[in-house]
Amino acid sequence: MSISRVGRLAGIDLEVLFSNIIERALVRSFFALKDRGLFASIAAEAAPYYYSGDKFPHLSHYSFRYPAKFHPPVAAQLIRDFTEPGELVLDPFCGSGTLNIEAAALGRRSFGTDIDPLAVFVASAKTVRISEKIANRHFVQIYKSLSSIPSWAGRIGHGAPLNDHSLRQHANENGLFIPHIPRLTHWYQPYAALDLAKIRKFIEAYGCCVSFKKILWLTFASVVRSSSNADPTPVSGLEVTKIMREKISRGFAPDVFSIFLKNLEKNITRAKDYSKATTHSSQPVFSAADVTKLTELPPGPFDAVITSPPYHSAVDYYRRHTLEMYWLDLTTTHEERLALKPLYLGQGKVAKSNALFDRNELRGQYAKNKYSEILQVSDERARAFKHYALGIQLAIENIDHLLAHQGRAVFVVGDSVWQGKLLSTVALIQESAEPYLRLGKTFCYSLKNRYMSYARRNGADIKTEYVLELIKK
Ligand SMILES: C[S@@+](CC[C@H](N)C(=O)[O-])C[C@H]1O[C@@H](n2cnc3c(N)ncnc32)[C@H](O)[C@@H]1O
Repeated sequence: MSISRVGRLAGIDLEVLFSNIIERALVRSFFALKDRGLFASIAAEAAPYYYSGDKFPHLSHYSFRYPAKFHPPVAAQLIRDFTEPGELVLDPFCGSGTLNIEAAALGRRSFGTDIDPLAVFVASAKTVRISEKIANRHFVQIYKSLSSIPSWAGRIGHGAPLNDHSLRQHANENGLFIPHIPRLTHWYQPYAALDLAKIRKFIEAYGCCVSFKKILWLTFASVVRSSSNADPTPVSGLEVTKIMREKISRGFAPDVFSIFLKNLEKNITRAKDYSKATTHSSQPVFSAADVTKLTELPPGPFDAVITSPPYHSAVDYYRRHTLEMYWLDLTTTHEERLALKPLYLGQGKVAKSNALFDRNELRGQYAKNKYSEILQVSDERARAFKHYALGIQLAIENIDHLLAHQGRAVFVVGDSVWQGKLLSTVALIQESAEPYLRLGKTFCYSLKNRYMSYARRNGADIKTEYVLELIKK
């Protein structure tokens, strides 16, 4: 029997397997020529990164489920390895702020920027410092007030089915506001939307300091998805899956108020832990910024940039955060949301008119070759890849501008896979950096707990993460 037949019978596409092995070898030799056998073996530096347990200070890390976030002990180790106490660090793809939280706990000052408004809000709300006494007092008061508000569960939806319009009208008649979420009744059972609107109104009116208000909104954000019809498991985007439809037909009815109160109690404890572990002088600062536009990024110089860019075609952050963005008024109209979409890097589909194509061309040979290869199969996918590669190229140019002399840019990346073929993020970063930054330490480690189920389904190699240090020349 031929090898390829054995492979097929074993469920393995040998052609794909071999082309990946050859490609990996090519990527390695690409670096070996330039440097010193990058990632050929696991370096000693990687040892502390093989952390698998969950016994580390959780601080405020688990206050919101953010896709593909850093594993906190890894973020902490990166900070220890690549910065000194008191230094200034930037994460320009900060997501939910994992790196900044660890930076603060280790006495480093930091900035975090991200294109996603929810990310910026979540990161800033996870890093508020609160007094234990005040937080406890608020919790008792809120618990009393919310426990006495009746849920709409069982009180609505028995007559003719409500559509988006009649549900909104019902809310208005009861002094409640439901944001203009398209296909509202697809995403929510009517009672759940009304209960969310009630909690939202309660938070708006609740008298407390700005910091505690942020914890309330963060908790609200954490309930928006868990009380919807969307499946909480996949991280790729937002979907009412078959599993969820079956669950709903069997009577799934999340108790919105009690989920909110339970999450609030946990988030207060987390905020207290974060407050105890940090000082005012290392409080991170966050702002919304597109990494491809230097003028939007905070001015340097930074001693270090430590970051984990999005993977190509893995998590759709824009879609994934639709409900939270509406409920938190981070975007209020469909048009406002549409204007944000083209700015996200890593999307599976990108319009021909995207502004990144206007004045930029791919520079590196690896990116050019990959682009031509994908173009032979699909215009659409090639365009999406080009957008990603151009984004990485511009991000690195900008990071170079922001770094202090001898400053370090540390990238943590995984590979993407398209049609079974490897798309090496490491190769893209390294060749984009070549004109400005020299290669420092490089190593890889096995990935633990990265919240990335979509990429797994997509065949991306998420078992290994690569660390690439680049030093300003
Ligand atoms: C892998 S995630 C970072 C997760 C983060 N390390 C954490 O622990 O939560 C990548 C981030 O890149 C952001 N991003 C995508 N395109 C961007 C752009 N053009 N400018 C800035 N951030 C962008 C996404 O919104 C996402 O939050």
